[in-house]
Amino acid sequence: MVSDSELLLEVTDLKKYFPVQKGVFRKVVGHIKAVDGVSFGIKEGETLGLVGESGCGKTTVGRMIMGAYRPTGGSIWFQPPNGATRVDLAAIEPSKMKPLRRHIQMVFQDPFASLNPRMTVREILAEPLVVNRIARGRDLEDRVRSLIDLVGLKIQHLNRYPHAFSGGQRQRISIARALALYPRLLVADEPTSALDVSVQAQIVNLALEIQEQLGLAYLFISHDLGLIRHISQRIVLMYVGRVVEYAPAQSLFDRPRHPYTEALMSNVPSTRPELVGRKIILKGDPADPMNVPSGCPFHPRCLYAQQLCSQVVPPLLEVDAGHLVACHFSGSLNLTGCDALGCAI
Ligand SMILES: Nc1ncnc2c1ncn2[C@@H]1O[C@H](COP(=O)(O)OP(=O)(O)OP(=O)(O)O)[C@@H](O)[C@H]1O
Ligand SMILES: [Mg+2]
Repeated sequence: MVSDSELLLEVTDLKKYFPVQKGVFRKVVGHIKAVDGVSFGIKEGETLGLVGESGCGKTTVGRMIMGAYRPTGGSIWFQPPNGATRVDLAAIEPSKMKPLRRHIQMVFQDPFASLNPRMTVREILAEPLVVNRIARGRDLEDRVRSLIDLVGLKIQHLNRYPHAFSGGQRQRISIARALALYPRLLVADEPTSALDVSVQAQIVNLALEIQEQLGLAYLFISHDLGLIRHISQRIVLMYVGRVVEYAPAQSLFDRPRHPYTEALMSNVPSTRPELVGRKIILKGDPADPMNVPSGCPFHPRCLYAQQLCSQVVPPLLEVDAGHLVACHFSGSLNLTGCDALGCAI
């Protein structure tokens, strides 16, 4: 496992339960367990991929890290720069959060919704620098110009409004704005999924170039295993609000240890025609976060489930160097990985 001292961000046992209210008196009749005991760490300068089916809680994790949602439980330890002591963002007073906020920024799936249509690109990029009193006058203009250059757009683009750009260009502007305060961590929530395939690759390459230049860390959220494999050093796989597998990318794709991971990998198109037909079709629908199955939440859909699986929640345990899995029988299963299947990713 990664030692605590190397971590920029460490999330432990993070939970977010949304109350479900009914009737005129808005009586709480249950909870959506969107995130239910998630733990992982992100090192300085690394990319941690967060994957899972729609509704498994990925965005909710990102929003809690950003401070947009207050967690129901757990901690979000953040290491500020210059060796200051670690702080728990889940417990901090809102007033103390403000100076820390600049170190963690987020980029969203829909760049249009996240850009103010009434502001020019110059104003959009200048805003965080002005609000945080970081620059003004000539210095401000220089910084804005270097940001637009960093994301591969031109100085003349600064005078335009967001509607005058393509989807890919708008995402570049969102990235530039997120980088204005030189954050240490960028939470990228499906930043390419609303874009054409050709543009997706450009944005991913841009993200990688920027990472190399600025040395920042990414929490990259996606349901696209191929993309996650391409960019991540380590990967967290979620299923209805919980982590099922957490591993270095190579280890995960070589040898998955959770039946859910194996099923996802078996559905990636294969470059080996003799292996076509190895698809694992999961029975039933993804679990409902309002009504999570007992024991292992994946057990009703698992090909290998045994009685214990419906009774006891499997803990997330380390089974190989840095490779953690939450499955009672992972030691006795010989699951097939992407590399053996010739996955085309
Ligand atoms: N503000 C909210 N109030 C109530 N329920 C919510 C809220 N935000 C999310 N949820 C619920 O929490 C669960 C997790 O949602 P979340 O958006 O985190 O999933 P996701 O993994 O990001 O999905 P997707 O891949 O579709 O973006 C879902 O069941 C969702 O309906
Ligand atoms: Mg989401």
